[in-house]
Amino acid sequence: MAEWIYVCRTDEIDRDDLIRWDYQGRSYAIYNTEKGFFATDGHCTHEDQHLEDGMVIGMVIECPLHGGRFDIATGRALSPPVCLDLIAYPIVVREDRIFVEI
Ligand code: FES
Repeated sequence: MAEWIYVCRTDEIDRDDLIRWDYQGRSYAIYNTEKGFFATDGHCTHEDQHLEDGMVIGMVIECPLHGGRFDIATGRALSPPVCLDLIAYPIVVREDRIFVEI
C-alpha cells in the first residue's frame, strides 16, 4: 500500500537541481524545477548510473554517463541511449516539507 513519506525541506534542493534520496533499499531522485518538485527513480534505465550528478535542463534530466534524457515530470525516456522510462512518483509540498508517495 502506498504511503506519503517525508523527504526533506524545500530549501534543501537548489532550483534546477536534484538530490539523491534513499529509502528502504531503493534510491530516488527528487527535483526542484521551474514547474515545482518532482520525484523519479534514482537510477538511469540504461545502465546502473545514478542520476544525482545529472544535469537538469528545464523539465529534462540528462544522465551524466551517456547523456540519455528523461522527462522529469513523467519519467518518459526522451533520447538514446535510454529507451525505458523511469518510474515517476507523486509528490506533494506541505508548508516547506516535501513528501513522496511510494
Ligand atoms: S547510464 Fe544513463 S544514459 Fe547510459
